[in-house]
Amino acid sequence: MRLAHRTWSEVASYLEEARVLIIPIGSTEQHGPLGLIGTDALCAEAVALELGEATGALVAPTLNYGMAQHHLGFPGTASLRPSTLIRVVVDCLEGLHRSGFERFFFVNGHGGNEAPLRSAFAELHAELARVGRPGADRIRCTLHNWWQLPEVRTLAAELYGDGEGYHATPSEVALTQHLLPACIHRADLAPTGPCDGAVHGAEDFRARYPDGRMGSDSGLARPEHGARFLATAVSDLMPLFSAFSAFSAEQTGSAT
Ligand code: NI
Repeated sequence: MRLAHRTWSEVASYLEEARVLIIPIGSTEQHGPLGLIGTDALCAEAVALELGEATGALVAPTLNYGMAQHHLGFPGTASLRPSTLIRVVVDCLEGLHRSGFERFFFVNGHGGNEAPLRSAFAELHAELARVGRPGADRIRCTLHNWWQLPEVRTLAAELYGDGEGYHATPSEVALTQHLLPACIHRADLAPTGPCDGAVHGAEDFRARYPDGRMGSDSGLARPEHGARFLATAVSDLMPLFSAFSAFSAEQTGSAT
């Protein structure tokens, strides 16, 4: 269920039963010669919507821009600086908490978002405590990187071994191939060199990873793998989501 497709009164009814919101967050950045610019946002959104479908939880509009500073040397990339991303997340959550949401379950598609997201959670608590917002202590925020979920990692290792790499990975490319079969690109790519996952500035990144991949063999991706990654990510997330969203009137008290 997409939040964007509901009216305010439907959201009010939902909040009588639940306080949880799923929020997909991605990035708008290069993903090598075969991967789409929107890969991280497309993947996070697909996993979030499928999880929302399976649980009946509302899914917020996807945050399509992320912290992608080191990819700026490639056309099509746009980045929010960390402080901007923190501000965007805090402002969104502040408003959503005012409506009654208390538990924010982020499905993340991009590693560069992780540190700013965790800072945003701390910033939200600090800000609401400072202004004395009632009920602020009941807010819970969590994030899960879909590609790092245990069974997703196992599947990626089975299908691609070391070819999974760190960026423009065949697993994320496969998921977008499943979602958008009209946008599949194929080419014989030379393997990239060894990669320790470290990233610095945009120029340094492009010099070390000239075609945008980091240790990944994106050409191994197949759309049928993408369907498996989607189902696996959702089944990995289900118990995590159930524990996180557990709600009782007792826990939340009478008013927010
Ligand atoms: Ni990515």
